[in-house]
Amino acid sequence: MKKLNSFILGALFSTLTICTQAQERSEMFYATMDTHSALQLKKNHPKDVLIIKTVGDYSAVMLNESSAEELHHTGLKHGPGYFYENSEKDAIHAIEQVIAIKKEKSKSSSIKAVSFDITQDQLVNQSLGLVNNTNIDRHIKELENYGTRYHTKSSATRASKDLKTKWENLARGRSDVSVRLVNHSNTSMPSVIMTITGTEKPDEYVVIGGHLDSTSRNGQDNAPGADDNASGIATITEVARVLFSMNFKPKRTMEFMAFAAEEVGLVGSKEIARDYKRRNVKIVSYMQLDMTNYKGSTQDVFITTDSYNSTSLNNFLKRLMDHYNASGAHRITYGNSACNYGCSDHHSFAQQGYETAFPIEAKFRESNPHIHTSGDTSSRFPTANATHAAKFAKLALEYLIEISNGVSGGGNPSSYCASNGNTTSDEYIGKVALGTINKMSTAGSGGYSDFTDESTNLSKGGSNTITITPKWTGSTYNEAYAVWIDYNQDKDFADAGELIWSKAPSATTPVSGAFTVPSGAKNGNTRMRVAMKYNGIPTACESFKYGEVEDYTVVISARNSVVDSTPCKNATSYNSSVRYKTGDLATHKGGLFKRTSANEWERIASCDAAVRNTTMSTLAGDDMLFDFYPNPVVGEFVTVTVRNDLWKTGSILVIDVKGNILQEIKLTQKTAQVNTSKLSTGTYFLTLFEGAKNYTKQMIIK
Ligand code: BES
Ligand code: ZN
Repeated sequence: MKKLNSFILGALFSTLTICTQAQERSEMFYATMDTHSALQLKKNHPKDVLIIKTVGDYSAVMLNESSAEELHHTGLKHGPGYFYENSEKDAIHAIEQVIAIKKEKSKSSSIKAVSFDITQDQLVNQSLGLVNNTNIDRHIKELENYGTRYHTKSSATRASKDLKTKWENLARGRSDVSVRLVNHSNTSMPSVIMTITGTEKPDEYVVIGGHLDSTSRNGQDNAPGADDNASGIATITEVARVLFSMNFKPKRTMEFMAFAAEEVGLVGSKEIARDYKRRNVKIVSYMQLDMTNYKGSTQDVFITTDSYNSTSLNNFLKRLMDHYNASGAHRITYGNSACNYGCSDHHSFAQQGYETAFPIEAKFRESNPHIHTSGDTSSRFPTANATHAAKFAKLALEYLIEISNGVSGGGNPSSYCASNGNTTSDEYIGKVALGTINKMSTAGSGGYSDFTDESTNLSKGGSNTITITPKWTGSTYNEAYAVWIDYNQDKDFADAGELIWSKAPSATTPVSGAFTVPSGAKNGNTRMRVAMKYNGIPTACESFKYGEVEDYTVVISARNSVVDSTPCKNATSYNSSVRYKTGDLATHKGGLFKRTSANEWERIASCDAAVRNTTMSTLAGDDMLFDFYPNPVVGEFVTVTVRNDLWKTGSILVIDVKGNILQEIKLTQKTAQVNTSKLSTGTYFLTLFEGAKNYTKQMIIK
């Protein structure tokens, strides 16, 4: 809602047009909108708007419908608008509430951010194979055939009732599922909600929604709304069908929502979101699907980065696509875009303080140009058979399955507590170095950065040094530090020994701390939190005034067992023509390697005892320098991820067993796709190569 320019204002006027067609409305009505829009509107057309009350960025207004016709000839067909309100009291309450929730969010220590881990590979992969695009295509056409779903029309109410029946039929035989119509105060059209009650955490809700109504500026009797938003509803319905066909029973409660009267100011979703908030319903996350089937851009999915959306939920959606959709039949490419206003129902939930995301069909500017006209029909989709919408169904399944079933040990929190610095304009964490983590960064938004994609190996009993470099933007201040590792992986930093290092306030730069991973730590990935606070040692869940917090991943493993002073004496140098078995040793480039059960080579020591310490420390985490999957390779593409920034401008070489270089892929970022479709079955090597340095892993093609 912050950015506003003149053409957008034109769009605001045209949004008003929609309402002139709602003949039932009185001459003037109440609404809220961002203050900037209200002031512009008032300046250009003083008679059309009465600003009743302004609190910060938001204003409660009264709008004049009769002037809307004259205003509408400018610019776009939609854009930042108003949010319809029932009365003056409601409008004032709405703006006051937005401010109250903003305040609550900034004290975020009390609100727990969800833990967004990827742990449900098996179920998710199963679900992806079940998505059927032709179901979505058929359902879009079915919805289009109502002719109009404009909220005041009887066919809109019929569409809601029919959708309820459709969802009930999908859920038949499931006593844990219910479908209900929600009647509203401000529209005659009901919304539809389907609930699958969670088996373990029924009080925590994971929600997906979209609007069922449509609109058209060519007259509300012809508003097919095929893309806006039959596509979203058909996508959500296919997602539900897939889940029921798997007999999936979520641990958290899952809800599917189809809203009434979105097009006239988010009317249905606003009433529902307010009701959930009032009843204190814990919605863990909300995802909106509105317009999923017009492929207008090169990439497939666009994550909207509007400030009211949740950055961590957005990042999670991207990580899901990196994990599940990097290649093969379920490939999805993505980018960022933004509405720059409260463009759909997710905004209603964001305004109540819930974490929201809204992936859209194309860059905002390249999305379907026919919406809100009688031309929003399936015949104008640039791709056939709803294959584009099917990608959103896949992303939605990943989102729903992962979040509803996400890990949380018995009685333990399902998420890490939030922590942040509220002001980063004077100082923030400039760099963190530990093992292969070497992360330089600017200030994270809201004083927190989720760098859990960055990781390093740490072995139990091994001693480590973490180095933190503060960044002062002007004057130097005294900074204090604390670092935690969740050694027992119970999603808190509260257990004995989990505060691994802290330092009292000083102006030293950089600062370093040594720590040893205890032998009782649990193997595997866990979280490390780094906090820097002005003038006082931070605590793990604190929201403090000045400074910053960053989260990372560390991978805990057992300590290397080789302690021989001449570790290579019993091994011969690696020979590519030998068939090695698990446990075999070989030397290569001064290192001792052991064959693992995954047919890879694990570097376990340096051959030169005298230089072992230094060699080991510079090579620490070598096996984490890059990763690739799948291995053995199935399908056409292998996704390579380089973990260390220092190597990300190198090249990936594909080398055969004779040492011939078959392919070179120049890296431009930390991930790359290797096309293996031309390689015959056998053993190859992927070498990460940068300047004079290189690092090799074995790749098997089956
Ligand atoms: N589907 C649109 C929003 C949209 C447009 C999303 C383009 C992605 C790309 C939605 O139904 C809508 O029309 N919203 C209104 C605003 C709302 C507050 C009435 C709009 O954009 O004018
Ligand atoms: Zn619309």
